[in-house]
Amino acid sequence: MDTGNMNANAPCPYAIEVENLTKRFRVRHMETLKSTLLGLRGRREHVEPFTALDNVSFTIPHGQTVAVIGRNGSGKSTLLGILARIYVPTSGIVHLWNTRCQRARLATLLELGAGFHHELTGLENIQFFAAMLGMSEKEIDARTPQIVAFSELGDKIDTQLRTWNDGAKLRLGFSIAVHTDPDILLIDEVLAVGDEAFQQKCYRLIASLQAQGKTILFVSHDLLAVERVAERVLWMHRGVIRMDGDPRTVLDAYRAFSAEQGG
Ligand SMILES: Nc1ncnc2c1ncn2[C@@H]1O[C@H](COP(=O)(O)OP(=O)(O)OP(=O)(O)O)[C@@H](O)[C@H]1O
Ligand SMILES: [Mg+2]
Repeated sequence: MDTGNMNANAPCPYAIEVENLTKRFRVRHMETLKSTLLGLRGRREHVEPFTALDNVSFTIPHGQTVAVIGRNGSGKSTLLGILARIYVPTSGIVHLWNTRCQRARLATLLELGAGFHHELTGLENIQFFAAMLGMSEKEIDARTPQIVAFSELGDKIDTQLRTWNDGAKLRLGFSIAVHTDPDILLIDEVLAVGDEAFQQKCYRLIASLQAQGKTILFVSHDLLAVERVAERVLWMHRGVIRMDGDPRTVLDAYRAFSAEQGG
């Protein structure tokens, strides 16, 4: 995957460029039931490739907020995982740029508690994360109180993460992600575990990031939130982009499709 610096003179109108992205997983099938039915002893195993993303291409200009929707298993998290460099694609190219044509600073919120150290306290995790993102000690000292205040975690911030509930992990993860000055923010679903008040607060902050010109790509099954927040919607279906356009058009088509499937 090439995410290196582009020629400084080259134009880079896009924050995210995805070209012919394919991801195949090797899925191990255990034929326990079949073996039993056939009276065979033990389990047989075979490995089959599964294409989670199939030659996906799109671009997202700087400052756009895009929602990714689609049924369970359609490839949404796989796509964000590749953009976040958690998965290596089977083939294809991803470029992530900031407006100065340098490698973009990413903030990701893909899985609750992912990347955290559960034996460390909330505060220690903030410092660890900020240092990993390349922030200086001075920057970390300046940002930490903002992160703690936004999370509203109170004294919990001084306790180890292993005892935390999901909502608390979301509060910490979201607060860190949005206060570390990212160019691009990737969010997969996790907002759903926040209580109503915290979700509202997250959406207000997302609006302020939008106003600052950040690029946001988020996965959600909450179509009302998508309608409220997104400027554009990608509908993924079986590893391909089935539709890409303005929220109203894509959501209408997706709702009609879902009603047909459910009915
Ligand atoms: N590590 C893996 N190994 C094998 N198959 C995988 C792996 N990760 C994902 N898959 C498969 O790839 C497909 C796409 O999964 P993905 O998690 O991207 O879907 P999704 O659109 O995020 O679904 P959901 O709405 O349920 O979160 C699924 O069929 C899933 O089982
Ligand atoms: Mg997912």
